[in-house]
Amino acid sequence: VIERPRRLRQNPVVREMVAETRLHPRDLVLPVFVAEGLDAPRPISSMPGVSQHSLASLRTVAEQARDAGLGGLMLFGVPQHKDAVGSGATDPGGILNVGLGVVRETVGDDLLVMADTCLDEFTDHGHCGVLDDRGRVDNDLTNEIYAAMAVAQARAGAHVVAPSGMMDGQVGEIRTALDGAGLTDTVVLAYAAKYASAFYGPFREAVQSSLEGDRRTYQQDPANRLEALREIDLDVQQGADLVMVKPALAYLDIVAAAAERVPVPVAAYQVSGEYAMVRAAAERGWIDGDAAAMESVLCIRRAGASIVLTYFALELAERLSGLRPARH
Ligand code: PBG
Repeated sequence: VIERPRRLRQNPVVREMVAETRLHPRDLVLPVFVAEGLDAPRPISSMPGVSQHSLASLRTVAEQARDAGLGGLMLFGVPQHKDAVGSGATDPGGILNVGLGVVRETVGDDLLVMADTCLDEFTDHGHCGVLDDRGRVDNDLTNEIYAAMAVAQARAGAHVVAPSGMMDGQVGEIRTALDGAGLTDTVVLAYAAKYASAFYGPFREAVQSSLEGDRRTYQQDPANRLEALREIDLDVQQGADLVMVKPALAYLDIVAAAAERVPVPVAAYQVSGEYAMVRAAAERGWIDGDAAAMESVLCIRRAGASIVLTYFALELAERLSGLRPARH
């Protein structure tokens, strides 16, 4: 007899019944930019459909995210003033901490409020850490600031802090500081394997990055897999509750390896360049953008990610929950 796998594809019901991977709004996290001094959202030209938010429009996004049943919002701050040590990051009046408070007040515990724990948006040189007298990123001094930043973010309302600077030992330092401040419930989402990637291009516009040069002394070489596994193991040993791989689509082998290896849930970040490519091709009519967005996120889940950070999160969640029709 002929083997007939097509039998299980003959109509939508059977296809849905045998689907091995499903997407649910709670799997999705929307990255959001809150900018100081705005009174209306400011569109980001390289990310059509994404804007920097004012505090008022941030509140609206938080309500929409809650109503769509998202898993969380990941907040990035865009301050008006930057300095060498990124003072705005630890200041309770800094834009990111104020934004965290606004979101938490709006959503309570209905979704997870997540904070980017990194200095690059706050430093005038644009690096993710502070510099030593020779202009190199000083790992241990940076960790001290990350620890204070994480405590400030948790106090401002973050359920989750997400160290993304790739300093050695950052997760352990942050966990110790949180526990020392009595913040034992604060979750650490570690950017465990974060690559020095060209796919971050549009994000640099989104946060008005002042970086010259690159981040290759701290972010990973795209050529390496073993190094990622080592980084992931170290973060789990240091107390990471969740580990993340970033970017997502070009790194699905790393996502899959992480999911097999570690006893904690794995997240993946579909970054700005991945989003922009889908949008740009769709604008030209070259691909169906809605379908490509849904497919790419589904495939990131299939590879092993339980959680996906994506700029498509809100529209996907609204389609999944029937709040918005699936356009074609
Ligand atoms: C750095 C950071 C970056 C992103 C998130 N956090 C980029 C970088 O290394 O410059 C990129 C996110 C994206 O491209 O969507 N703290």
